Amino acid sequence: MSKTGALDLATGLGGKIDKSDVLSAVDRYEKYHEFHGGQEQGRKDNYTDMVNKYYDLVTSFYEFGWGESFHFAPRWKNESLRESIKRHEHFLALQLGIKPGYKVLDVGCGIGGPLREIARFSSSSVTGLNNNEYQITRGKELNRLAGVDQTCDFVKADFMKMPFPDNFYDAVYAIEATCHAPDAFGCYREIYRVLKPGQYFAAYEWCMTDGFDPQNKDHQKIKAEIEIGDGLPDIRLTTQCIEALEKAGFEVIWDKDLAKDSPLPWYLPLDKTHFSFSSFRLTAVGRLITKNMVKALEYVGLAPKGSQRVQDFLEKAAEGLVEGGRREIFTPLFFFLARKPLDG
Ligand SMILES: C[S@@+](CC[C@H](N)C(=O)[O-])C[C@H]1O[C@@H](n2cnc3c(N)ncnc32)[C@H](O)[C@@H]1O
Repeated sequence: MSKTGALDLATGLGGKIDKSDVLSAVDRYEKYHEFHGGQEQGRKDNYTDMVNKYYDLVTSFYEFGWGESFHFAPRWKNESLRESIKRHEHFLALQLGIKPGYKVLDVGCGIGGPLREIARFSSSSVTGLNNNEYQITRGKELNRLAGVDQTCDFVKADFMKMPFPDNFYDAVYAIEATCHAPDAFGCYREIYRVLKPGQYFAAYEWCMTDGFDPQNKDHQKIKAEIEIGDGLPDIRLTTQCIEALEKAGFEVIWDKDLAKDSPLPWYLPLDKTHFSFSSFRLTAVGRLITKNMVKALEYVGLAPKGSQRVQDFLEKAAEGLVEGGRREIFTPLFFFLARKPLDG
């Protein structure tokens, strides 16, 4: 069972950071970002610290609001958010042609929601690679509860330097994770190395679209809100991802921004004008209630000092994401399927 109660939220806040250090960790995290005087190069040079602090600080909020899978999805009318998230995971498994017995790698696996779903959907073994200790602890517990702990596991490592031999995996996927890489080519090149020749890599990337104008002040603000709210060094253009894949040696089979023909917008759960009982905690009202609850928990000492500040930058993220989605300058649904050539 996912941790979904208010007390679960409070006890998980700060992840592996000592509770007394949460406030200073929030300070240090914020200083990496433009709104607090930080710069892109600083985030890239210190990506491990920046991203790990981010996930220690936010994982409990994510689990409380989203459940076990931390990603968006295109959505049909009359489809619940939960259903759309699972369908989006199944789509990846189908695109990759995952077969029973395949050894699959999930790059940047969170607490393993997609990993468990894909392993059960395709009867494969999935290894989750993640550099965040707290998320791995949660993931192992959830794997055990789901009964997939004999076939699926976690490895704590950086996806820029993976501890796996060459030509090892039958399929590799990444869901809204490689956007944290300081350099897309370096990350894709590692994925290429560990994938068997002739096999496939598929991903959902967070990207700025062709509609993004780097000189436009509003666009810059939206991008900076998403970066601080989501622990990102620099959001790349879709075209930069394709170039990096090709440079790494992949043959790109097809790519598409799945936001383009989604019947319901992917950002709907976070949109202030939208209300939903089934994803209530993500709505503006739900977020306001969580904000007040966190304030109270921090006041009585059940949540560490600094927790409200985390909630604040997550709110900034929600605003940037909705605005970026509405203006079609940002997408979290840039899909690609790429193949490592047989002679690669
Ligand atoms: C938005 S979460 C997505 C998690 C998961 N794919 C899902 O959909 O539930 C991004 C994940 O990437 C992981 N990550 C970020 N940078 C990483 C790195 N350098 N090496 C390994 N994992 C990383 C984070 O710890 C986090 O688990």
